[in-house]
Amino acid sequence: MTEEQSAVLVTGASGGIGAATARLLLDRGHDVVAHHGRRREAVDALVSHAESMGRRCWPVQADLGEMSGVQHLVSEVDRLLVEHDSLPLKGLVNNAAKLLGPSFDAADPDDFDLYLAINARAPFFLTQQLSRRMTTGGSIVNVSSAGVHFSSPGDIVYAMSKAAVEALTRHAAEALAPRGIRINAVVPGFTDNGHPAFQDPAIRTYMAGFSVLDDVAAVEDVARAIGFLLSEDSRRTTGTLIDVSGGSTLGARPRTAGKVSLRSVVEEVAPLVPAPGASAQDEHVG
Ligand SMILES: NC(=O)c1ccc[n+]([C@@H]2O[C@H](COP(=O)([O-])OP(=O)(O)OC[C@H]3O[C@@H](n4cnc5c(N)ncnc54)[C@H](OP(=O)(O)O)[C@@H]3O)[C@@H](O)[C@H]2O)c1
Repeated sequence: MTEEQSAVLVTGASGGIGAATARLLLDRGHDVVAHHGRRREAVDALVSHAESMGRRCWPVQADLGEMSGVQHLVSEVDRLLVEHDSLPLKGLVNNAAKLLGPSFDAADPDDFDLYLAINARAPFFLTQQLSRRMTTGGSIVNVSSAGVHFSSPGDIVYAMSKAAVEALTRHAAEALAPRGIRINAVVPGFTDNGHPAFQDPAIRTYMAGFSVLDDVAAVEDVARAIGFLLSEDSRRTTGTLIDVSGGSTLGARPRTAGKVSLRSVVEEVAPLVPAPGASAQDEHVG
């Protein structure tokens, strides 16, 4: 299958890592289904980018916290593939997520259910349903987090939801292999997704302190790893993780601020400034 003849669904294409991934895939010749939650304008920029290169990018809105939203996204992908000459689905990037928190002490059952619904249930059912639309050569990439691999009680529910994503990656790999479909995950550490907190020197230094390399990651660093896992260059790779956290999971450095959550640092140093089009309750910092 040539890349010119295939589509990839990127969930959360309105966010930092999702938009960078969608852009990279368009640049490589794929058509992209660009899922978004509340930020349509971010996906409109991708549509313009695609059009400027003669490629196609189709926005689809869906709330992935609800099963009806997951089903709507699956139906829209089906409709688009059929409408466009039965275009094959080459890839799925399970990137959309609710970031950070809530803490061990503060979490309540509603929080818990919401994080698990968006971050783990949606990727599971998108993988189950959309892998049926893929043929040999299909590739699924999940986006996990370095937060799974070090202790941060302030973000325990987020970390649990991402641990489920890593389990999905491992267990689905064997189920999908007979159909020639691969599934892997990337593990980002702190990645500048455009949230204003990344511009605050104190917060940025705190975040960079988790890595053994300089600074935090750029969204393109994560997108390139996702692009590799979607490509034929990784055709013998399935059921595994690619760590793009700059060594944050090594536990090699003393923490810059002790065992506190990023949320507490952000709130202490610079109260969260809402991202464009988002409410003050949003967590768009990794
Ligand atoms: N940035 C980091 O430091 C970091 C570190 C480790 C892992 N990660 C992971 O990387 C991935 C992308 O993160 P990011 O930094 O790019 O975050 P981001 O800029 O905040 O983007 C998050 C994306 O998820 C979508 N989303 C959130 N809740 C949703 C819902 N209920 N229904 C539908 N869509 C929803 C958002 O859509 P709308 O904005 O349109 O609502 C947005 O497109 C996530 O899986 C995150 O856990 C990020």
